[in-house]
Amino acid sequence: MAFLNENYLKLKAGYLFPEIGRRVKAFTDGNPTAAARLIRCGIGDVTEPLPAAITAAMHRAVDELSVRASFKGYGPEQGYDFLRHAIAENDFRAHGLDVADDEIFVSDGSKCDCGAILDILGGQNVLAITDPVYPVYVDTNVMVGHTGPADEQGAYAGIHYLPCTPQNGFIPEPPKEKVDVIYLCSPNNPTGAAANRAQLEAWVKYALANRSIILFDAAYEAYIGEAGIPHSIYEIPGARECAIEFRSFSKNGGFTGVRCAFTVVPKSLLAATATGEWKPLHPLWSRRMTTKFNGVSYITQRGAEAVYSPEGKAQVRSLIEHYLGNARILVAGAQQAGLTVFGGRNAPYIWVGAPAGVTSWQAFDRILNEANVVITPGSGFGRNGEGFFRVSAFNSRANAEEVARRLVALKW
Ligand code: MLT
Repeated sequence: MAFLNENYLKLKAGYLFPEIGRRVKAFTDGNPTAAARLIRCGIGDVTEPLPAAITAAMHRAVDELSVRASFKGYGPEQGYDFLRHAIAENDFRAHGLDVADDEIFVSDGSKCDCGAILDILGGQNVLAITDPVYPVYVDTNVMVGHTGPADEQGAYAGIHYLPCTPQNGFIPEPPKEKVDVIYLCSPNNPTGAAANRAQLEAWVKYALANRSIILFDAAYEAYIGEAGIPHSIYEIPGARECAIEFRSFSKNGGFTGVRCAFTVVPKSLLAATATGEWKPLHPLWSRRMTTKFNGVSYITQRGAEAVYSPEGKAQVRSLIEHYLGNARILVAGAQQAGLTVFGGRNAPYIWVGAPAGVTSWQAFDRILNEANVVITPGSGFGRNGEGFFRVSAFNSRANAEEVARRLVALKW
């Protein structure tokens, strides 16, 4: 008899984006006219083509693989040295941050790494997770049995939820209670809020005092425009002793379909055994990668390396400016519609309060049915997301302008 992993049965709902896809399909199947004018601002998926410097590098890599002398089979599981070096040099050391090449682990995505990291963390950790939150942090912990069951409100035992509200600017303070593993995402998905230096210092101080680990998701780092917002957790002294950072090429280079990301695991980061011995996590993560992963394709890694070339940097910058320009248009449209708007300044997401008495899913249905625009209901990101919805700025300029017009025209 084969048994299944019953942790999956604890999951409260399907993954948010497939559920949205299902509802949109049901709507468009019965409504071809609306389907033709549908604009998707739901999942944060990039729309603009890859920068030319990246595709040129990938073409060169394809050519290398097509001749015997430069053909390559399996690459290093942790990533090619050329990419690990380019990342450590450009994203960290160029900013005075102490990160070694071999502390960079190249992967096929931050979502994958956020789930995979649980392989090397104990099941007894008390988790601190923001609410609302990128659902992957919660669901992956449920799947591996690092939580108990959910209560009637959908809150899982073993998770300490950190409410993110307009009152705290969607950036929670460290709790009074002791937690072991803390998930922070800045700039934030879904709220678009970005933690300032003092806020991250408070978290690092808390983590060092409690010997906790911060899992810092910086996938949207490239969208930070304001001064005083750290781009990396390692800008905070002490973070090398308490934090793992996740970064991605998805939202800067436009790699959501190409797939490339990386995780920084400092060699100075320790965690405890059940008997109280402190051990570095770096060799565990390296062991995990060599056993369960065969690396990202050479072609993709050459493309990612080109993100750091002078042309690549300029082209990626204009891509980011394009999406941030969309965000400004969407913010202005939602404000003109009389809605309360957050985010969109250091992030490609705008977080909108639905009119009083309108739930997130009601807002989703109204906007889908009447404006033919797909957004993401805030309640899909957690209980504190109820009453909000997220609009993604990943789109063409024409679509962003059209969505802004339709939001203004919508009568609540
Ligand atoms: C989102 O829409 O929240 C993101 O696209 C999810 C992701 O990056 O995996």
